Amino acid sequence: MSAVKPEIQSVHFPAFRGSLPSLAEKTVVITGTTSGTGNIAARTSLELGAKVLLLNRASSRSQASLEQLTSDFPHASLHAVECDLQSFASVRKAIQDVHSLCPEGINVLANNAGVMALPDEATEDGFDVQIQTNHLSHFLLTKGLMPLLEKAAETSGEARIVNHSSVARMSPSKKLKPEYFEKRGGNLGGNGASMFFGGARWKRYNQSKLANCAFTAALHHKLTASGSKVKALVAHPGLANTNLQTTSVEQGGMGRLFTSWFMKMSQSMEDGAMGLLSCMFLPEAQSGEFYGPGKGTFATKGKATMFPLEPFYNNEQTRELLWSKSCEAIGESFDI
Ligand SMILES: NC(=O)c1ccc[n+]([C@@H]2O[C@H](COP(=O)([O-])OP(=O)(O)OC[C@H]3O[C@@H](n4cnc5c(N)ncnc54)[C@H](OP(=O)(O)O)[C@@H]3O)[C@@H](O)[C@H]2O)c1
Repeated sequence: MSAVKPEIQSVHFPAFRGSLPSLAEKTVVITGTTSGTGNIAARTSLELGAKVLLLNRASSRSQASLEQLTSDFPHASLHAVECDLQSFASVRKAIQDVHSLCPEGINVLANNAGVMALPDEATEDGFDVQIQTNHLSHFLLTKGLMPLLEKAAETSGEARIVNHSSVARMSPSKKLKPEYFEKRGGNLGGNGASMFFGGARWKRYNQSKLANCAFTAALHHKLTASGSKVKALVAHPGLANTNLQTTSVEQGGMGRLFTSWFMKMSQSMEDGAMGLLSCMFLPEAQSGEFYGPGKGTFATKGKATMFPLEPFYNNEQTRELLWSKSCEAIGESFDI
C-alpha cells in the first residue's frame, strides 16, 4: 500500500487556505469524504465554520473518518448521511435525510466521490459501476437536492453545485458515447487495464469524467436560462496523492510498480483539493467556470487556476445527450 502512495509535501495549499472566506451560517454537502480531496474539503469547510454533511457509503473507512473529524472538530455541526453511489435506492434515501437535516437549504453541494479503472461490473441498478458512482448517482443527488440549493440561493444570493472531473475527460475521444449511460453494466468492453492504449476500464472512467464536465455545462446553461442564482462549476485535481490509485491497484486497474513510480510525480492531496475548494468557496468563482492546475493533458500539478468550459462537451448536442441519457437512467425527468 505505502509503495503506491509516496510522501508528497503540499506546496501551494497553506497560502491558498488563507484566502478562503468564513463559512459561518453556510451548509455544505460533500460526497466521498473518507479520504482524499473530499476529506480535505470536509476538513477545510469545518475549519471555516460551515455546517457539514458527509455523504458516504457504510464502511470502516467512513466510521473512522467520521470519528477523526468529530474528535478534531468537537463543536462543529457535523452530520453523517449514508449514501452508496452504487445504489439509486441509497441515494434516494440520502436525499430524504439531507432534506430532514437541512431545512435551511444548502449553500454548496460538492459531487466529489469517485472510483477509477474498476472491473467491468454492474451495480444493483444495472449500470457500469464507474459510470453510476462517478456520474449517474450525482445526477440523481443533484436533482433531489435542487430545491434546497434554490432555497439557499434565495436567502444568500447564490448557491453552488461543484462536480469533480479529471484530465481523463480528454481521452481518448473527447466524445460522449450514449451506450456507457445505458443498462450495460458488466458488458462494456471488459477488463483491459492499459491506461495509455485504450483499456476498457479506462474508457469507462474517461466517459464518467467527461460526463462530469458535460453535466456542469448543461446545468450552467439551464440554470442561467431559468434565471436561477444557483451556480454550476467543475474542478479537477491534476494528479493527486489520494487513495484513488491505491484502490485501482487493489482492483487490478493499475500495476503496483508502475503506480508507485507514477505517483512520485503527483501533488499532495491538499494541493489537489484546491480546484474543488476554489469552486466551492472562492467569492469570485462564477457559474460555468472550471478550476484546476491548468487545462491541458499534462496539467497534473500546480496552483488551481480558472479556465472556461471546453467546446468538446460544452455544445448543445453533448449537453442534450448527457441530460436525456441521465434522465433515462434514473427513470425521472429533471426540469430546471
Ligand atoms: N487523485 C487523483 O489523482 C485524481 C485525478 C483526477 C480526478 N480525481 C477525482 O477526484 C475525486 C476524489 O477522488 P480522490 O482522488 O480523493 O480519491 P479517494 O481518496 O479514493 O476518494 C474517493 C472517495 O469517493 C468515495 N466513494 C467511492 N465509491 C463510493 C460509493 N459507491 N459511494 C459513496 N462514496 C464512494 C470513497 O469512499 P470509500 O472509502 O467508501 O471508497 C472516497 O471517500 C474523484 O471524483 C476522482 O475521480 C482524482
